[in-house]
Amino acid sequence: MHLDADQLDAWERDGFLTIPGAIDPARCQELMQRADEIVTAFDPATVSIFSTHEQTRTSDEYFMASGDNISCFFEEEAFGPDGRLVHDKARSINKIGHAMHDLDPVFDSFSRQAAFADAAASIGIARPLLLQSMYIFKPPHIGGEVSCHQDSTFLYTDPMSVVGFWVALQDATLENGCLWAQPGGHRTPLRKRFVREPGGGTSFEELDATPFPEPGGSELVPLEAEAGTMVLLHGLLPHWSDVNRSARSRHAYTVHIIDGATSYPAENWLQRSPDLPLRGFDAA
Ligand code: FE2
Repeated sequence: MHLDADQLDAWERDGFLTIPGAIDPARCQELMQRADEIVTAFDPATVSIFSTHEQTRTSDEYFMASGDNISCFFEEEAFGPDGRLVHDKARSINKIGHAMHDLDPVFDSFSRQAAFADAAASIGIARPLLLQSMYIFKPPHIGGEVSCHQDSTFLYTDPMSVVGFWVALQDATLENGCLWAQPGGHRTPLRKRFVREPGGGTSFEELDATPFPEPGGSELVPLEAEAGTMVLLHGLLPHWSDVNRSARSRHAYTVHIIDGATSYPAENWLQRSPDLPLRGFDAA
């Protein structure tokens, strides 16, 4: 399923590309089933709340250790004032991350199917390496906003190379918090980098003061997507998703891929154990 000339033109013009029907619905179901099993087995004693709001993320050691394991993160609104879950555990999870693609056979197989490999080859990633996977739940009523950001902020390489491969496992609509993106925004500068501090902890290193488009404004367009749709996202593309206040979940899966010909900084938050080197699309 290599991309055609029109798709490549759209990718270069917009910095994103939507490919309806790219992934077999049966494979989407299989991945959803596996994610459900992981959450069922998850012991909430190890609690982490995921947010792109800075204070939470920077102080979260559970998050920092999750680059090479399988961790579950709660929604910010999952807990009541008494500290207890308001909903069932399964309806309280924000995401699973960040190395299922290398540690779980179902995720490994899903992430290395031809649709991903062919798209990566088509857009010219010379030596693709699968860096990060995220299973995003966007649960009913409490699915959190993901503030406008560029993926290169979190997954920086020199030169920049990260591309996000996002798959709608369920229909993503305006009501349940679909992606929004800025067409052409991949030609704007990288605003900041999320870095590990030498003495421990993390911070955002400010690089450029260009403001992001306003959520809800005219610069961002909604990327509504039926289940099975793949969306490619350039690492510099500003994108955002709103809260989900609807009664329907919005499950999605992303794999972030870098070019192994670039250098990967030691100050990036995501670091892998030498025991778990990055792999490409080849079978283990
Ligand atoms: Fe992102």
